Amino acid sequence: MATIKDVAAHAGVGLGTVSRVINNRGSVSEEAQQKVWQAVKQLHYIPDARARAMITKRSYTIGVILPDFTNPFFPNLARGIEHEARLQGYTIVMLDTDWQETVEHHAIETVIKQAVDGVILVASSNAALGSHILRQIKRPLVLLDRGVDGLGASQVTVDHYQGARKAMDWARTQGHTHIGFLAGAAHVNSANLRLRGYLDHLGLQHIATDQLEQHPQLPIIRTDFSFEKAFELTPRLLEQHPEVTCIFAANDLSALGALNYLTSHNIRVPAQVAVIGFDDILMSSLYHPSLTTIHQPTYEMGEIGARLLLKHIETPTSQPEQHVLEPALIVRQSC
Ligand code: RIB
Repeated sequence: MATIKDVAAHAGVGLGTVSRVINNRGSVSEEAQQKVWQAVKQLHYIPDARARAMITKRSYTIGVILPDFTNPFFPNLARGIEHEARLQGYTIVMLDTDWQETVEHHAIETVIKQAVDGVILVASSNAALGSHILRQIKRPLVLLDRGVDGLGASQVTVDHYQGARKAMDWARTQGHTHIGFLAGAAHVNSANLRLRGYLDHLGLQHIATDQLEQHPQLPIIRTDFSFEKAFELTPRLLEQHPEVTCIFAANDLSALGALNYLTSHNIRVPAQVAVIGFDDILMSSLYHPSLTTIHQPTYEMGEIGARLLLKHIETPTSQPEQHVLEPALIVRQSC
């Protein structure tokens, strides 16, 4: 395997020049840089990451902490992150927190020990977003999907509230006046923002998202964003609220769980009960009946998040940015 000495000899420059070019340090003439990169390419030279890190104090690695690898939403988000990181010469280390704050805490400590250059985090809970551990990261941090004020970190989210309003508006245009809601978990702020949109659409601005227990008359059941929990809870929603003719689910896996319950119990969709989701994962277009849902620009969210993080790594004085992306209604067969 080619060494740095082979590259230097091939390019006709000194070892120091090769090191400065590869590690982007110090000034090197344009001609010398071209010679070095040409030699690297021709010799298929791969710089030793550890040696490079010792010289540049950089690992060219970013830590990506996500709540659930089994939910197709997150791998698509990770693809956007990885493609952008790779374009800029970085690799990613990914960790799954299983929606557990304690696991997330350990994941953050792990990426700090891994000496990553920056961290991208989809927080498992609202509390985690405010936890002191985030302040211990002491390197560029970008929050995706759900943000928090006051942390001083860049964040890229979708307008969860508007997405829920779009879903409810569509259900209303389809003639539904009794719309049940499979809400996400109370400790996840993207879930609560969608619940806020559901409640406000119904003129229930006076009901706080943490007061559902005081309003059992509302056709709302909290789930955990999983297919299984939605399959389990859909019959309870329909038994307690037989007037419901449309189920809005706070994410696509929940909507598909509800769909699966309805179709496996000979309840016609959408004729008897319609279903709307939120995410627009690939599976939703492949299901039968295909799922009407709210599209999140997930891949783009990952791309923008990675671009922001690398900007903060390369330019430490760059200021945090907030990006809120637009969700879009995707009409298919289920509503
Ligand atoms: O499906 C997982 C959900 O968790 C998505 O809606 C995403 O926005 C995240 O909040």
